Formats: sequence, C-alpha cells, structure tokens
Amino acid sequence: MKHLLKLQDLTGDEILSLLNYADQLKYENKHGIEHKILKGKTLGMIFKKSSTRTRVSFEVGMYQLGGHALYLNSNDLQIGRGEPVEDTARVLSRYLDGIMIRTFDQSEVEALAKYGSIPVINGLTDYAHPCQVLADLMTIREYKGGFKGMKLCFIGDGNNMANSLIVGSIKMGMSFSIACPKEYIPDADIMKWAYEAGNFTCTESIEEAAADADVIYTDVWASMGQEDESAKRKAAFTGYCVDVRVMAMAKPDAMVLHCLPAHRGEEISSEVLEAHQHEIFDQAENRLHAQKAVLATLMK
Ligand code: CP
Ligand code: NVA
Repeated sequence: MKHLLKLQDLTGDEILSLLNYADQLKYENKHGIEHKILKGKTLGMIFKKSSTRTRVSFEVGMYQLGGHALYLNSNDLQIGRGEPVEDTARVLSRYLDGIMIRTFDQSEVEALAKYGSIPVINGLTDYAHPCQVLADLMTIREYKGGFKGMKLCFIGDGNNMANSLIVGSIKMGMSFSIACPKEYIPDADIMKWAYEAGNFTCTESIEEAAADADVIYTDVWASMGQEDESAKRKAAFTGYCVDVRVMAMAKPDAMVLHCLPAHRGEEISSEVLEAHQHEIFDQAENRLHAQKAVLATLMK
C-alpha cells in the first residue's frame, strides 16, 4: 500500500490490517503508551473544502506520532491561482513526507499520487471518503464484534460516503443496502462493482433497505459544493429521514452511524441522533485512531 486514494485500491486484508493497527493504537493511546513513529516527518494537508474532524484528527494524529502537520488552505497556495497539480505534487514531494488532500475531483488526488513521490491520502473528494469509512468499520467492529453476517443500510444520497461505504462494507463481508431516490444513486462504477460483488441492494424503498439492518447510516442530502441544490434536494429526499419510524424497521439492536456534520430534522431526527450519540461520537473519535494507522503505515 503506497497511497490511500480510494478503498477499491486496497485488498480486504489490507483494510483489516489497518483496522487491527487502529485498534492497537487506540488501546495504547488510552493507556498512555506513545509511539513517535513519525518523528521528524511532515504531513502537508491541502484543503479546498471546509473540515472539522478531518483537519483536527490528522493534525493531532501527526503530533501524537511525533511528526508535524502543515495546514495548507488551497486559496493560499499557488494551486488556487492555477499552478498545475502535477507541478505542485513534484514540488511538495521535495519538502514533505506525505500529503493529505480534501478537494472536489478525484482525478486531482490521483494526479498528486501519480506525479509526486510521497504517499497521498484522500481526505474526501466528491467521489470518495476512505478515511471516514475506515473509522466507520472500526466502530462497527467495536459495537458488533465483527462483520460477517452484518447488514449495513445507508439511507440518503448516493454520494462520496455511500460510494466508499459500499466498497468498504462489502470488502469486509457485510451485506449492503441503500435507499435513495432513483436520481441520486451512487456512481455508476460503484454500482457495477457492488452488483458484481453481490450482497448489494439499491432501492427507493426504505422498508426494503432497512429490513433486518444491523447498522443504519446516513449523511447530508447536499454535500459540500452542492449548496445551491439544497432546496431541490430537500424536496427530493422528503421521507428519507432516519427517525424512529425508520429505526423500527431495522433490527431492535441496530446501531446508527453518521459521518457528521449532521442536519437534524433533515437526514436524521434529533431524537435518533441523541439516542445513538455514543456510537456516533465514538465513530468521530475513531477518525483519529484509524488515520494514525494509515499515517504510520504509509509514512514510517
Ligand atoms: N466527517 C468528516 O469528514 O468531517 P469534516 O468535514 O468535519 O472533516
Ligand atoms: N457527503 C458529505 C460528507 C462530509 C463529511 C460532503 O461531501 O460534504
């Protein structure tokens, strides 16, 4: 594993070993055991979109591993004035030991990896959010004890989260269902991959998708960059709110996950979010541990 660009690039065993490493790092972190594995190393973090969890967990993760993280707002870089990503990649590779990037186009992340000579980590694109899904899988295993026989149901937009969750969940042996309006299904290549992999359903029916689910997952209806579609999307997703009515369709002990930020009263009711806050905030915490595993694996 040289980069983390999207979960399709990783084998199931590679994902599992990252999760095992993340569990170990979490345990050690809770017991005050320090590893300065990345002493003297610097991660550059390029942001073209806002972030709370990703920025803070990567920065703290690098600090805890003995390294340094550099926050690079793309508006302050020459990339924001049109310097090609191919040149940026080659220049930054001379200074840094790794790059984390949050941007719009997946092709930009892939180009950084292609033209640079250091590990590149996808911190979210319109297409994928692999770091979030590693934390999600870690949280599912903490609460459910494993993946085999588990069913994850995603309710909402077939967005970056849905794309990466489909790949990660199916690679871990879970079955996956998504309920969404038909105009908002996941990307075509992901749909094709999932149908071929099996254990995958895409439906407009929440009842069908949520039946027997062990995990209910949702995310915002309008992602970053889609703010001007908010009203249209709100109308299209009416009825797709994860509320007590939906929870009654899943298994009685179903857990709820949300990558956050959440819009209460839209994709999730306040009641369900608060009732499942333990899972959801453990999930947010696990970003730190899962990413430390990624950083240590790629940059040591
Ligand atoms: N879940 C997530 O990636 O959060 P941020 O947008 O705050 O980084
Ligand atoms: N789908 C959301 C995820 C945020 C973590 C977005 O892209 O804005």
